[in-house]
Amino acid sequence: MRFLTSGRRHKAARPLLLLLSLFLVGAVYAAVSPATSSSAEGVADAQLVAAGKNLFAVNCASCHGLNAEGLAQQGAPNLTNVGAAAVDFQVRTRRMPMANPLTQAVPGSKTIFTDDEIKALAAYVASLGNGPAIPDQNQYDPSNVSAEGAARGGDLFRTNCSACHNFKGAGGALPNGVVAPRIENTPPEQVWEALRTGPGQMPVFAAGAIPDQDVQKVIAYIKQVNAAPSAGLSLGGLGPVAEGFWAWVAGIGSLVLFAIWIATRGTRA
Ligand code: HEC
Ligand code: HEC
Repeated sequence: MRFLTSGRRHKAARPLLLLLSLFLVGAVYAAVSPATSSSAEGVADAQLVAAGKNLFAVNCASCHGLNAEGLAQQGAPNLTNVGAAAVDFQVRTRRMPMANPLTQAVPGSKTIFTDDEIKALAAYVASLGNGPAIPDQNQYDPSNVSAEGAARGGDLFRTNCSACHNFKGAGGALPNGVVAPRIENTPPEQVWEALRTGPGQMPVFAAGAIPDQDVQKVIAYIKQVNAAPSAGLSLGGLGPVAEGFWAWVAGIGSLVLFAIWIATRGTRA
C-alpha cells in the first residue's frame, strides 16, 4: 500500500484508513466480547449441562453412579436413555432423590430443587443419550379437547389405565405392595411424562400407542369424570377396599336377615 507509506498520500487514503480501523475495532470487539446470538444458546446449554452434572454428582451419583450408568447394588437404573422428561417427572414429583432405594419410589424426597436446578439435572441426563424431552404445553394441554374427545379419552382410559388406577383415577393396589397412585389431580404435564417414561411398575405408553392428541383426551376425561357430581354413593372415589367393604356389609346383612327369616319360620313349623 504505497499511499500509506509515501509522503504524497492518495486522496482515498483517509477514508480507507478510517474503514480499516473501524474494521479492526469490530474484529477485536467480536473476539473479546462474550459470544452472542446463535452461539449463546450453545454456551448456555453447556453451562446448564455442567451445572446439572455437579448437582447429579452430589445428589444422585451415590445410587445411579457418577456417569448415571446405574448401580446394581442400589437397584438404581441406568439413566443414559431415560431422557429429560423422566428426570423432570421423578424430581418434580419428589420421588427422587430417593430416600430408601429398597421400596417403591414414592413422593417424599426431602431435597427440594428449584426449577432451574431441575432443568439442569434434566439437561445433564438428556445430554447422555436419547429419551423423551420435557414436553411443551401444546403437547399435553387438554383445554381444546371437545366433549366427544373427552368421551374417547374415557375409552382409552378404561382400556389402558383403569385396571391399575381405578376407573376414575382414584388409584389402586397392585401385587407385591406396589401402589398405583391417585391421579385425579396430577398436573397434565406429569400425566404426559408418566405415560412416556413409565415410572416404576407402570408400562411406557409411547407416542405410537397413545399419540399426544390422545394423551390430551385422556387428561380431559380424568378432569371431567372427577368434576362431575357423583350420583349416589361415590364408591369409585373410595377405591376397591371400600367397595369390598360395602359388598361385605350388604352380603352379611342379607345373610343375617335370611337366617332370622328361617328361624322365625322354623319355630312356627
Ligand atoms: C437412594 C438411591 C437413589 C438416589 C439418591 C437417587 N435415585 Fe433415582 N432411582 C433410584 C431407584 C432405586 C430407582 C428405580 C425406582 C423405581 O423403579 O421406581 C430410581 C429411578 C430413577 C429414575 C427413573 C428412571 C426411569 O427408568 O424412568 C430417574 C429419572 C431418576 N431415578 C433420577 C434421579 C435423580 C435425578 C436423582 C438425584 C436428584 C436420583 N435419581 C437420586 C435410586 C436413587
Ligand atoms: C400396570 C399398572 C399400570 C397401568 C396399566 C398404568 N399405570 Fe400409571 N402408574 C402405575 C404405577 C405403579 C405408578 C407409580 C409408579 C412409581 O412407583 O413411581 C403409576 C404412576 C402414574 C402417574 C404418576 C402419578 C403421580 O404420582 O404423580 C400417572 C399420572 C399415571 N400413572 C397415569 C397413568 C395413565 C393415564 C395410564 C393409562 C394410559 C396408566 N397410568 C396406566 C401403574 C399403572
